[in-house]
Amino acid sequence: MASLLDPLNVKNLTLRNRIVMPPMHTGLASINGEVTNEMIEHYVERSVNLGLLIVEHSYISIDGKYSARQLGSHDDKLISGLEKLTTSVHEVNTPIVLQINHLGAKPSKDLIGIDPISPSAIGDIREIRIQEMDRIVENYALAADRAIKAGFDGIEIHGAHGYLLNQFYSPLTNRRKDKYGGSLDNRTKFPLEVVNRVREKIRDKLLLYRLGSVDLDKKGTQIDDSKQFAKRLEEAGVNILDVSGGICGHIPPEFQGRQGFFIPQAESIKKVIKIPVIGVGGIKESLFADMLIRNEKVDLVAIGRELIKDPDWSLKAIRSISN
Ligand SMILES: Cc1cc2nc3c(=O)[nH]c(=O)nc-3n(C[C@H](O)[C@H](O)[C@H](O)COP(=O)(O)O)c2cc1C
Repeated sequence: MASLLDPLNVKNLTLRNRIVMPPMHTGLASINGEVTNEMIEHYVERSVNLGLLIVEHSYISIDGKYSARQLGSHDDKLISGLEKLTTSVHEVNTPIVLQINHLGAKPSKDLIGIDPISPSAIGDIREIRIQEMDRIVENYALAADRAIKAGFDGIEIHGAHGYLLNQFYSPLTNRRKDKYGGSLDNRTKFPLEVVNRVREKIRDKLLLYRLGSVDLDKKGTQIDDSKQFAKRLEEAGVNILDVSGGICGHIPPEFQGRQGFFIPQAESIKKVIKIPVIGVGGIKESLFADMLIRNEKVDLVAIGRELIKDPDWSLKAIRSISN
């Protein structure tokens, strides 16, 4: 029976334990999206003793940007800065993956200078034309390629929290009448095109997908949809599935204060696929995290806000579980 401290072999990597730092936007990039020394310190400090670091969402193109000081992966000029980050994290022997993202309908027009795009038009938001889709897919692939050139061990495609790929997946935000809207097959088509192209581009590197597993809305994505989608993601070559919230966001207000709030979704998805699953949500105690692994609810546990508060969370977990 595995514990939180046991290694996990996945693809061609060995994760030293089951503790993952999930992607968390820091606002520490430069105004042009470059890595800064402050950002490197932030990650290195927290990486010692981690199984896997997933670096915060980076924008694949300016029109998918989240905030002024968000990390970028949209330009070749950023590769050398990203390389400093991967080199520093590799010095503490921790595998490092970059999350890549496009915000779809969510960016402010003031920030990106044009109307945001989305699967379906709402207000100022412009519907994505079918002829534009290949370019967007290619932007994901190019961003992934830059990250691999910069020494990342893999890529996490952001498909959760109501951003572009999640907007395609969720019936709440996808009202398209063409082959990209309607049925589950159609709504997962664009995200799978992105996965296939990124998989091809990064060859043997690690590929993660962050899945918006439920929207917490009667008309939104349900867990049975996500079980189907998870199987397709596995078939498309995803190596680890990172299960989080959909349109309801990453910390739904109704889940505040609950430890392990997206674990039930991760657990039911784990039952239908063979690749490792990351569970997340309000986890504070190392013994609770250890129990999730021992009871085979998930394969890896993401510790977000607690690791921000306490960079030594993993060290303390190792001590308390070993004793
Ligand atoms: C400050 C902050 C920034 C976040 N940024 C991202 C992000 O860039 N990408 C992402 O997928 N999730 C992001 N999240 C969600 C976290 O990865 C995680 O799923 C969430 O915080 C729940 O885990 P926790 O309760 O352990 O913090 C962010 C969360 C916080 C608190």
